[in-house]
Amino acid sequence: MKILLTGRNGQLGWELERALWPLGEVAAFDRAGLDLADPGRIRSTLRDLKPEVIVNPAAYTAVDRAESEREAAFAINARAPGILAEEARRLGALLIHYSTDYVFDGTKAGPYAEDDTPSPINVYGASKLEGENAIRASGARHWIFRTSWVYAPRGKNFLLNILRLAREGKPLRVVADQFGAPTSAAMLARATAKALTNHAPPPSGVYHMTAAGRTSWHGFASAILAEFGLHNPIAAIPSSEHPLPAKRPANSVLDNSRLAAAFDIRMPDWEDGLREAVATLSGKMGSE
Ligand SMILES: NC(=O)c1ccc[n+]([C@@H]2O[C@H](COP(=O)([O-])OP(=O)(O)OC[C@H]3O[C@@H](n4cnc5c(N)ncnc54)[C@H](OP(=O)(O)O)[C@@H]3O)[C@@H](O)[C@H]2O)c1
Repeated sequence: MKILLTGRNGQLGWELERALWPLGEVAAFDRAGLDLADPGRIRSTLRDLKPEVIVNPAAYTAVDRAESEREAAFAINARAPGILAEEARRLGALLIHYSTDYVFDGTKAGPYAEDDTPSPINVYGASKLEGENAIRASGARHWIFRTSWVYAPRGKNFLLNILRLAREGKPLRVVADQFGAPTSAAMLARATAKALTNHAPPPSGVYHMTAAGRTSWHGFASAILAEFGLHNPIAAIPSSEHPLPAKRPANSVLDNSRLAAAFDIRMPDWEDGLREAVATLSGKMGSE
């Protein structure tokens, strides 16, 4: 299987490169090798390589900055996936793309299903939703995996931020009224690799792919400190006391049952993903 991977240095891209290699030949690109802001480059790279599978974890992920950089967010998150999808259709390739819980407004009481109506409340969510729509409209074979609260032992993420602040002895005040499922990039990469080993590929569409269970950012921060044996107090605050440029949904929990039924993939609990990431991180810190 010939696979083209974008964003190899991102949290998920890094894990995907390692999870996908047993499946075939992986051509992995960083931003310099394949800039998704350059439509001509996207088309020529795909036409040269002729992959059978395109995996696209690259994205404009700066949720707050997107509020003032709308054009850049839409170029990478909406237009580029549309071009990848057009080229996938020409090649007869499968496009695997990742989207976000932030396509929803967070007002639903329970977990969101794929058929719930998206209604993004920030520019990042709107740009990702437009990317989903462009892929659907292309006629390419596709799986769009919507995920949430992604972290890894590397990159920019909540896990590493909390750990740094705790070690510096900084006061910790963390939002306790937004709920979701912290999802490790490693578990997403493994689930993606498993999806590709299906003998009868499930139909094109959107599938929710998050860790099982739910917590708040405050709950996540508390679990991180507990894993590291740190005892810094963490104040639980409402979102109103932590104003940011982009609004966040209060409920980000996604229902994974369509993924389980179609792909026979059961996502691990978020605590298991955290334990694994902490073990990797502890190993890295031990070897430094
Ligand atoms: N992070 C989350 O909490 C979260 C939540 C829900 C959904 N998602 C989705 O999950 C996917 C993976 O996210 P992630 O957390 O792994 O993101 P990430 O760590 O921020 O990585 C994004 C990658 O995209 C690359 N990129 C940005 N602009 C590019 C461009 N113009 N051309 C080529 N590459 C470009 C970045 O390159 P550089 O390394 O050069 O910057 C980076 O390697 C994304 O689709 C994201 O929208 C993420």
